[in-house]
Amino acid sequence: MRGSASIMVCTGAVLLTLLVRGIPAQEADKRMTDLPPGEGQSLVMDVCVRCHSLETSLVERKDQTGWQKTVNDMILRGAFITPEEAKTIIAYLTKTRGRVDLNRVSLEELLRVTPLQPAEAEAILRYRSHHGHFRSLDELQEVEELTPERIEEIKRYFSVTPVSSSSDSESKPNSN
Ligand code: HEC
Repeated sequence: MRGSASIMVCTGAVLLTLLVRGIPAQEADKRMTDLPPGEGQSLVMDVCVRCHSLETSLVERKDQTGWQKTVNDMILRGAFITPEEAKTIIAYLTKTRGRVDLNRVSLEELLRVTPLQPAEAEAILRYRSHHGHFRSLDELQEVEELTPERIEEIKRYFSVTPVSSSSDSESKPNSN
């Protein structure tokens, strides 16, 4: 009697551990390496797995300049990619593993590209229309609906490109 009861307790504990630890990790992995269909998908899956896994190389989101720099780095490290292929890969990664510009993103794009809830996305756009453009990602702290923990989670989906306005004397075009 005692023996079988403890086996059941054991089995229960193992199942619980699997439930608690296994599933979220799996889901997170899937999201990291999920490459949606599109021009460039097969190139990435062919070229970018030759020296390392996609799990390690596609975790971080980057804007177009960031991906351009990475792909150039990979060519220097020995990746065989033609200039045409590089262009396709950069465009694909910018679209699928990119960041959206806080100062230009639309509500539709926020909801499509980031894991924000509608109320959070609306709060960000409301902040932008009331306070003007974001100067840095840190300014997300000023959006009341977002907790510091939430900002940590969503930060990697955003970039901030300064918007020049006529009243902003610091953002004059290069004068050299
Ligand atoms: C010829 C081998 C090779 C190929 C092919 C290659 N890489 Fe890399 N990659 C490396 C090496 C070496 C490193 C640095 C060591 C490491 O992090 O594993 C690296 C690191 C990275 C990093 C982390 C450093 C950073 O710049 O953020 C990313 C991202 C990356 N690669 C993306 C890619 C992508 C995208 C492709 C496909 C276009 C690709 N790699 C193809 C060799 C390669």
